[in-house]
Amino acid sequence: MSIISEYKLKDMKLKNRLVLPPMCMYSSEKGYVNEFYKAHYGSFALGQVGLIIIEATGVTENGRITDDDLGIWNEKFVDGLKNLVDFSHKYGSACGIQLAHAGRKSRVKNLEHYAPSKIDFKDTYNIPKEMSLKEIEYVVSSFGKSAKYANLAGMDIIEIHAAHGYLIHQFLSPITNKRKDNYGGELKNRILFLKMILEEVKKYWPKNKPISLRVSASDYIEDGIDIHMMVKIINEIKEYIDIVHVSSGGLIETDIDVYPGYQVEFSNIIKKECDIPTIAVGLLEDYNLSEYILKNEKCDLVAVGRGLLRNPKLLMEYVDKNKLKYNCLTQYERAY
Ligand SMILES: Cc1cc2nc3c(=O)[nH]c(=O)nc-3n(C[C@H](O)[C@H](O)[C@H](O)COP(=O)(O)O)c2cc1C
Repeated sequence: MSIISEYKLKDMKLKNRLVLPPMCMYSSEKGYVNEFYKAHYGSFALGQVGLIIIEATGVTENGRITDDDLGIWNEKFVDGLKNLVDFSHKYGSACGIQLAHAGRKSRVKNLEHYAPSKIDFKDTYNIPKEMSLKEIEYVVSSFGKSAKYANLAGMDIIEIHAAHGYLIHQFLSPITNKRKDNYGGELKNRILFLKMILEEVKKYWPKNKPISLRVSASDYIEDGIDIHMMVKIINEIKEYIDIVHVSSGGLIETDIDVYPGYQVEFSNIIKKECDIPTIAVGLLEDYNLSEYILKNEKCDLVAVGRGLLRNPKLLMEYVDKNKLKYNCLTQYERAY
């Protein structure tokens, strides 16, 4: 297995195993795709990235991180997103989107911010409102509708954002979820919100298209989520998902020891203990490192974020520098 080998998951076919992970660009007006997004995501399709995952996109207006985020809470966003999908497909990349709700980490103006419990992220953020049962139901149904719009836009995969301290993660972690009802307390209860979202999404997302779940495998704090708890969480909801995108952190501010491949072992453990495909991420742009982790089956796909922002033609560079037999775009043939 190599970064240039093909991959298939349900009906999604990838021509290589390089993934653009979701990365917010905060460049939208009112949630719509604009010229910046077309050029930005288009550059990764021209760079022959196997799978492009469009950034965290709000399933509700107050679920965005900022007012400048992309939105998918209404059918009116479908045409813009379809543009990104169509361009990706034209150049052979698959395209997905991350469906997200920021919860207490939202900084949108003039709208209520909510969370499982009334605990703020830090002093500079609003204290969130504890979500009522009605609000829980509303967010759950919003994820379902957004999955429907993602399908209308032609997305090959959706990724549910349950990582980095955003709303679903806030429910999963005992640090941020202090609820006394069915949604708080023991692990089974803290998973309920995610389970309901996945059940709802399944009603609208075609069976032949895969679903990714992005998780933070560690909160890096005592009594928070650790890899063992995350394995239990994934095993509880495994029937609803097809691949896990394994990240870490983001729930609270802590110092994390960051180095190339620092999250790979989390991916390896989840792949083995949950028997499910994984995407590894985190300082993985070194070609030899990505080959090593793929060959040793520590993941199925390799996501490179900042490395691809710096160089959307990273794959071509791998091909050129390592004399790989791989056809990149014919227009750029003389460069590799
Ligand atoms: C500018 C930027 C925006 C990001 N936005 C998101 C996001 O929308 N959703 C998400 O799950 N992670 C987000 N991340 C995290 C990345 O997807 C990725 O996990 C992280 O950058 C580590 O990978 P890297 O070392 O290859 O950059 C973002 C990272 C950056 C640098």
